This record gives sequence, C-alpha cells and structure tokens, in this order.
Amino acid sequence: MRVMGIESSCDETGVAIYSENDGLMANVLSSQVDIHAAFGGVVPEIASRNHVMSLVPLVEEALKQAQIKQSQLDVIAYTAGPGLIGALLTGACFAKAFAFALQIPSLAVHHLEGHILAAQLDAPTLAFPFVVLLVSGGHTQLLLANSLGNYQCLGETLDDAAGEAFDKTAKLMGIPYPGGPQLARLADQCLVDTLVRFPRPMTDRPGLDFSFSGLKTHASIAWKKSAQDDKARSCIAQAFQEAVVDTLVIKCQRALQKTQCTRLVVAGGVGANLALRHALQTTLKNHQVYFPRFEYCTDNGAMIAYAGFLHAMRGEKDSHHAIEVRARWPWN
Ligand code: KG4
Ligand code: ZN
Repeated sequence: MRVMGIESSCDETGVAIYSENDGLMANVLSSQVDIHAAFGGVVPEIASRNHVMSLVPLVEEALKQAQIKQSQLDVIAYTAGPGLIGALLTGACFAKAFAFALQIPSLAVHHLEGHILAAQLDAPTLAFPFVVLLVSGGHTQLLLANSLGNYQCLGETLDDAAGEAFDKTAKLMGIPYPGGPQLARLADQCLVDTLVRFPRPMTDRPGLDFSFSGLKTHASIAWKKSAQDDKARSCIAQAFQEAVVDTLVIKCQRALQKTQCTRLVVAGGVGANLALRHALQTTLKNHQVYFPRFEYCTDNGAMIAYAGFLHAMRGEKDSHHAIEVRARWPWN
C-alpha cells in the first residue's frame, strides 16, 4: 500500500509518500515563514492562497522523488484539523478531488496524531502505550497514547501554548516571527549566570496542566527594566527558556509516574528545542525518551502520510465525498 499525505493546517505545505514496502519514499515541504514574517504572525488568508499555489508542484515533486506514477497511489491522506479553516480546506479539497480522479479512497488525519506518530518514523519499534509531551505553536498537552487512535489527555495549557509563549516573548524583545528557534539560539549564547529567575508556573500544585502566559509578562517586565541590548536579550531568553524547560520536565516526570509508563515521546515544533531535549534526556535516565528528528518535529507531510498509512492499513477511509475540516478537534 502507498499513501500520499498532504499537510496544510498552518503555514507549511507538506506532501509525502509512505509505502508498506519502502517506508518513506518522498517528503517535500514549502514553508511560508518568510511571507508571514513581514506581518509578525501567520495571516490565514495569505496562508490559504500560498497552499493553493504550492500543492500541485509539491505533489509532482513528491511523485518524482518516489519515482512512481499517480496511478501507483492507493490512498490520499490529508490533515483535516485542527488548524486554520481556510488553510485546511485547500489541502482537503485538493486531496479529495485527487482521490476522486484516481478512484482511490481519501482519508482524514488528525494533525496532532501525525505529530505523535512522527516519532515512529525513525523508531519503528516504539510500541504503545507511551506518554506524549505535545508542544507545538498551537498546543501544549500531556497525553497517554494507549493504541493507534486512542489518546487520553492528561493535562494541557490553560492559556498560551509553549511555542506561542516562545514566539511572543521573542517578539516583545524585537525578534521577528517566528521567534521561537531564534530565542532558543540566543538563550544558548548567554554565558553569564542568569540575571533573572522566572517562576515555574503551576508546579507548586498537583496536576498536569500548564500555564505559560505569565512567563511572557515576566519577560516583558525584565526587558523593560534592562539595558535592552544583546546581552539583556540573551539573558532574558535564557531565563525564559529555563523556566519553560524546567516546567515541562517536572510535568513529564509526574505524567510518567502517574501512568507508570516507561516511554516518553516528545512531539511538535518545540520538540526541536535543544535545551528541552538535553534536560529530558539527563533527568529521565530510567526511561526511554523519543524525539523525532528536527524536520519531523515541525509541520511536515511525512507524519500525515505515515498516520494515514497506519489507519488505512486498518481499512479506514473517508465514508463520504463531503469535505469536512475542523478548526478544533478534541481527542474524545
Ligand atoms: O508543530 P509546529 O511546527 O506547528 C504547529 O502545529 O503549531 O510548531 C511551531 C512552533 C512555533 O511556535 C516555533 O516557534 C516553535 O514551534 N519552535 C521552537 C523551536 N523550533 C520551533 N520553540 C523553541 N525552540 C525551538 N528550537
Ligand atoms: Zn503542528
């Protein structure tokens, strides 16, 4: 079975092909980061228009990379949510029309399930159950992954997502969108002892929920009081990153203890953060911690093709031709 996966939930258009016999045969991506940077964030209408322009060339490129013809595809999987409605619609309309023309099934995929399963692309032996720390631009959740399609939310952010807090903190110190990765680089450059220490929100009470918006306020106050130069920027970045990382590590420990799971999967864009990877690996020595490689952490087509493949192997497919996408898509 060969499954094409199409991702268009936000500002990356991704197309990939996953095959039962050959694994990942193609994985191509078109990022719109530079286009949205001028506006300081993703502009939904511009994202949708760019997906429309990128989809056909990316599909052609993916087929070329995989060295197969359209007629050799068995299923077209696509991200049906959660995400920006207009952006999701472009991928869903394309996927369903393409599948209809090829007379093969289409299959709706949950974007966050794609992020969760991405870890198996490089670690095929990773077995259920496992705990997932899902940290992206739009979501921060701790989940218990019981089996394919069975995910139980153990805790989540009550306000900003971790990635969102990274991006907003970067922005308030004049770092252009998306500031998360750049803020992380600056934090790693801070060689002096941290001048400020931020709190570890919601770690002083039981439970697995998060709250990151207060850290942004702490960063804003520290920045206003500082010399507002490069040194201040990198020290505040370090204090902020340390607080986010510590908080995430503490909650992961709690989730592993609560579930008695031995395996932790880190998923989503913030999973690319090196300080987080290092802290989890050194703290959770008695557990197995799985990180997808960097290009599978941020949005990509490979995770959608792979998640689609697993569900298609169980005989699942879209039951009707109507196009349905969801801005929000709760687990249960
Ligand atoms: O999963 P993702 O690509 O998109 C969503 O589905 O949201 O995550 C993007 C988020 C952005 O907020 C970005 O700033 C953050 O992940 N991010 C990072 C790093 N790389 C990406 N945050 C901190 N450190 C990084 N190295
Ligand atoms: Zn994502």
